[in-house]
Amino acid sequence: MLKLCFYTEDVEERCREMLFLYICSMSIKKYIEKKIVKHLPALARAVQRSMDDDKKIKLILGEMRGNPEMVDSLFPYRDKYTVNTKMPEKSSSKEEVMKQIREMHAIESAPWKSGKISGSFYHGDQDHYDFLNEAFSYYSQVNSIQRDVCPSLTKYEGEIIAMTLDIFNGAAVNKRNPEQKASGSLTTGGTDSIYQSVYSHREWGVDKKGITQPEIIIPISAHPAFFKSAHYLNLKVVTAKIDANYQADVNDMESKITANTVMIVGSAGNYGHGIIDPIEKLSDIAVKHNVGLHVDGCLGGFILAWAEPLGIKCPVFDFRLPGVTAISADTHKYGYSLKGTSTLLFSSEELRRYQYYGQVDWPGGIYISTGFNGSKSGGLFAATWAAMVHYGKEGYMKRAKQIFEVNTRLKNVVCSIPELKLFGDSLFITAIGSDAFKIYHVNDYLKTKGWRMNGQQHPDGFHFCITGPQVTNPNIVEEFEKDIKAAVEYAKVQKGDPKSAAMYGGAGKEIDPSMYLPMLTAYTDVTQSTYPF
Ligand SMILES: Cc1ncc(COP(=O)(O)O)c(C=O)c1O
Repeated sequence: MLKLCFYTEDVEERCREMLFLYICSMSIKKYIEKKIVKHLPALARAVQRSMDDDKKIKLILGEMRGNPEMVDSLFPYRDKYTVNTKMPEKSSSKEEVMKQIREMHAIESAPWKSGKISGSFYHGDQDHYDFLNEAFSYYSQVNSIQRDVCPSLTKYEGEIIAMTLDIFNGAAVNKRNPEQKASGSLTTGGTDSIYQSVYSHREWGVDKKGITQPEIIIPISAHPAFFKSAHYLNLKVVTAKIDANYQADVNDMESKITANTVMIVGSAGNYGHGIIDPIEKLSDIAVKHNVGLHVDGCLGGFILAWAEPLGIKCPVFDFRLPGVTAISADTHKYGYSLKGTSTLLFSSEELRRYQYYGQVDWPGGIYISTGFNGSKSGGLFAATWAAMVHYGKEGYMKRAKQIFEVNTRLKNVVCSIPELKLFGDSLFITAIGSDAFKIYHVNDYLKTKGWRMNGQQHPDGFHFCITGPQVTNPNIVEEFEKDIKAAVEYAKVQKGDPKSAAMYGGAGKEIDPSMYLPMLTAYTDVTQSTYPF
């Protein structure tokens, strides 16, 4: 019967049969447990593997529609407010519109204000957001391209870049070579910064080295933005290993450099564990082989920059190293600006110019932009400038010190629990794993207590990225200690697979890995749809 089911042509029919078997297994439990249930995960995987992607997506969408928990999590407001599946015929008053926005905002702000959410909400004080929103409001309608009508945007953009170059020691470039001057751009986010950098390095390779098949060497721990950029820009991706300390393996990277390599990548710190790659050594090999080196400080840049001035041990990762040709650092993370901003710094003006796009013969007039984006909101320029000038070195250092301290206390809690282990020793991320049990059980338990950690894989683990809301909750460490100790006790007695395992491919047995991409595709489709989807 199992075989028959497996070879049936119609996929949906197979799934119905499996469901039937599963229901049977519930009623004649003992017999079935031995004979069938044991085989169900394998069977399910085999069925999943044999489908084509479109069928998988269709099946998953069906599953999602029939799963009330999933529907609730994606469309929690479907019964409360009108679902606009078409342009409304009539206007609504501003008050009606704002009422909905205010209500949804209030519901969704409560969890992160508790400090139990990892990362995401970097500043966390409504006061600060109000300040940024006011700055934004004066320029929200301004297009950053049109400097003739708003020359103040040049002040904002130029100063944001200058201030960021200052903290990453851009002046060191000019000291080494008086002909060369570090430069930068204001972009719309980390991925945008990385994309522009990959593009500029590719064009540099084409222009200066005549490379026609450009390659990029990316440690597996680097952010997907590098892989995505290489995919869009048609660079060959060469992955590099990480070593026992979860850092980029420099020897592996060097061994993979070819005449086609345009750039290599290091993180300061990486998303998974907040670890800084051996940037100094990467700089040496970048110089030796005359390739670009992008340091990804999208997440860590605006916090790690303050370690050294605070007297905290932190390796150099900026333009003081001669091989560093680009640094990305997100103002919308620890720069405490609004979402939609990041900086990309280059070790020369020449490298920045590769990302410019100009067209002089267009009937619409002469066109030039700094990068891939066209219009950008002047509001984001003003808000970012406001955040940076408001904080200054003094303000950023004060907040960084508080974040480093909370993180140290959280790491101490983890180290005091024998069943847990820390990944690396990041200054701002507590990254947790275990050799004693499946670590996702701990994550599952923490979830029930309102914590939202970020799951990791290869190796299994999760991290707690420390930001403002953890600093403003004075009891956060004690609350974490109590809940994680209970979570460990819970994990110790669990026999099956953790719920969150399936998300990361860590320990889930029922889901075939071939289902992951279709699942993500289906989910992404749904996040852009209306209810009922
Ligand atoms: C290390 C690192 N690089 C790049 C990015 C991409 O940034 P964004 O999501 O702003 O595009 C992130 C985002 O978390 C990151 O952590």
